[in-house]
Amino acid sequence: MSDALVTAAPIGAPIGAPRPTVYIETYGCQMNVADSELMYGKLVASGYDAVDVPDGADVILVNTCAIRENAETRVIGRLGELKKFMRPGSVMGVTGCMAQRLGPRVLEQARHVSIVVGPDGYRALPELLDGARRGEKFTATDFDLEEHYEDVVARRFEGVKAWIPVQRGCDYRCTYCIVPTTRGPERSRKLHEVVREVHEVVNQGLTEVVLLGQTVNSYNDGTHDFADLLRAVGAVDGIRRVRYTSPHPNDFSDRVIAAMAEVPTVCGHIHLPMQSGSTSMLKKMLRRYSREDYLACVERMRAAIPGLALTTDIIVGFPSETDEEFADTLSLCQEVRFDDAFMFKFSPREGTPATRMPAEWTIPDDIVATRFELLLKTVRGISRENNMRRLGDTVEVLIEKVARDGELLQARSRDFKTIMVPADAGAIGDYLTVKLSGTTGATFMGTPVVEQTERKPLPMMAG
Ligand code: SAH
Ligand code: SF4
Ligand code: F3S
Repeated sequence: MSDALVTAAPIGAPIGAPRPTVYIETYGCQMNVADSELMYGKLVASGYDAVDVPDGADVILVNTCAIRENAETRVIGRLGELKKFMRPGSVMGVTGCMAQRLGPRVLEQARHVSIVVGPDGYRALPELLDGARRGEKFTATDFDLEEHYEDVVARRFEGVKAWIPVQRGCDYRCTYCIVPTTRGPERSRKLHEVVREVHEVVNQGLTEVVLLGQTVNSYNDGTHDFADLLRAVGAVDGIRRVRYTSPHPNDFSDRVIAAMAEVPTVCGHIHLPMQSGSTSMLKKMLRRYSREDYLACVERMRAAIPGLALTTDIIVGFPSETDEEFADTLSLCQEVRFDDAFMFKFSPREGTPATRMPAEWTIPDDIVATRFELLLKTVRGISRENNMRRLGDTVEVLIEKVARDGELLQARSRDFKTIMVPADAGAIGDYLTVKLSGTTGATFMGTPVVEQTERKPLPMMAG
């Protein structure tokens, strides 16, 4: 521990005192993962040591999600469990979307929590925590439309790829969605700031970046659009893979599609949330596109980007959904043949327009469950068929981590397939060429063929 770090101890800590420790537990989407990395960065720079277990930590932060009711119920339960890891003098804080949504209500529901901080308030964490240690309680949930945490150096969890927020907030108003309430209005970072961070990431030895935003392809910093951003990030020397999530179907300009097709480092996979295959449902969801618009968007992208992989999000049981409207969702899945989908049962969120729809529109749980099972079967069946056809293909993979079984390594192809590779942990971060030798239907087994040691020109949008 250097003197410089000791003197950076939190205000009030005696010089030479051990650095306090902070543990952050993260729920929700990649944006929350990126925010937790920023919080760790901010707190480490302010004199804390980051730890990866809650046991005995001086500060426990729970970075929360509010997207569906079960996301919140789980966190409330977890706050109770985490209490037993606290020792005298340690403090607990709740951050993220549920903190923003519930504000001081969190303090009432969990009395051992001292601070509640929304997504735009993390800069003040060191001071808020100092106050909390003196026994004070705080709620900080103001939006700050200028806040992009530009000067905070993220402390990244993953050794292989970097989450890079390029936009915060959302200006859409999908009637089911809490995000505009929890994240506030849309704002984009300056392109040069994003590019600066990508250079930093390369210097840390990472080769893949994932650009994040709620409707990331509506990115606009006043001068540059998302096409400019893809081209600028994709051209950074040392970057081999550029991904992004989540785009909105309405914001796929020809310029963005052309940038995807032309920049070799941009991966040939798009996560394109569809939500429903029924135009009447989409209208009630206020998604601002029809079934035909969605299909036309897919067609434009596939025409420009051969071998493009597509994944999606689907909601089942939105108010008033009929059997026919649900059948439209199934048929759209058949038509597009998604590589994979995240499927969700509709969850009413307090304050969203969907909760003001007529009570008789509510779909009974048993019908939702039956539809959900049918959708799951359909999506998995298509995914299995798509994957079976890939057997024997040779693909480039990036080794990400040790797989859950502890034996194999888990890798990703450029088109986002999960591939298990027999190699030793030293290969994490390497690019290998593997032959797809087996599939469970969802994931692949890959047999290494040639080790790629040099950067080769990448095939245009190859799968
Ligand atoms: N910004 C992204 C989605 C973010 S939320 C977009 O517009 O696509 C991730 C997914 O959660 C959504 O795509 C949607 O499928 C699901 N979701 C959001 N609110 C929900 C709710 N109230 N009930 C069920 N699923 C929901
Ligand atoms: Fe929510 Fe719609 Fe915004 Fe996505 S685009 S975050 S679903 S309001
Ligand atoms: Fe959840 Fe907030 Fe992300 S509600 S999905 S953590 S933006």
